[in-house]
Amino acid sequence: MRKPFVAGNWKMNKTVAQASMLVQELLLGLQAVPEVERVLCPPFTSLMILSAQLANTGVGLGAQNLHWEASGAYTGEIAPQMVKEFCGYVIIGHSERRAFFAESDETVNKKLKAALALGLIPIVCIGETLSEYETGKTGEVVKRQVLLGFKEIDTAIASQIVVAYEPIWAIGTGKASTGEDANAVLKDHIRPALANLFGSAVAQGIRILYGGSVTAANAEEFFHQSEVDGALVGGASLKPSEFIKIVEAARP
Ligand code: 13P
Repeated sequence: MRKPFVAGNWKMNKTVAQASMLVQELLLGLQAVPEVERVLCPPFTSLMILSAQLANTGVGLGAQNLHWEASGAYTGEIAPQMVKEFCGYVIIGHSERRAFFAESDETVNKKLKAALALGLIPIVCIGETLSEYETGKTGEVVKRQVLLGFKEIDTAIASQIVVAYEPIWAIGTGKASTGEDANAVLKDHIRPALANLFGSAVAQGIRILYGGSVTAANAEEFFHQSEVDGALVGGASLKPSEFIKIVEAARP
């Protein structure tokens, strides 16, 4: 049994004061759903204060990125140990980072290894562009992202990884995939690619999320699918009642 998992990716939103207020609005509702692993991923600047606010609540905290080196001359970057000071989770390889900050399957692989080495739970994002989708390349693209991004990961720790399938054309567009289509990508391409690397028993234990215009209105459609273990939520994670409803919908 894979425990349902819902993470809110706040992206570049909320000052420290605003983030702290949003957590206050979310906390009771999220605490009432312990059957779901739920994680908030605010900007770096709010991690310290939110780690105190979320201590002993059962609600997890994640960063949106990390660098793979332990320290050094990397202006503007955050080292894995700095993330680990406050967080249990980290998002890796979000499509916005791949598109705007030159991240690649190779850098995703380095970041993934660095996160796992410290015991952080990585939420690794994969997904195809609109043109890849329209030309029927989805399967090929997500398989490549898994094979290269997850290269040389020890099978013994691979089950720690959470995968987020986020078709880029569905992110922030209000045009979500359908439950059935997303499930087919997970079932026909992503889990088989994981099985190729780690064997089918380990692949069966790895949680795979859907992301892209998830709302309280469509969440159930995804969570009812056999392969979808939860969601990575952007815009709707900034609205307290909406996000709480999504987490509730993920109850097994
Ligand atoms: P939206 O939910 O705003 O479409 O964003 C999805 C996403 O990118 C989560 O990482």
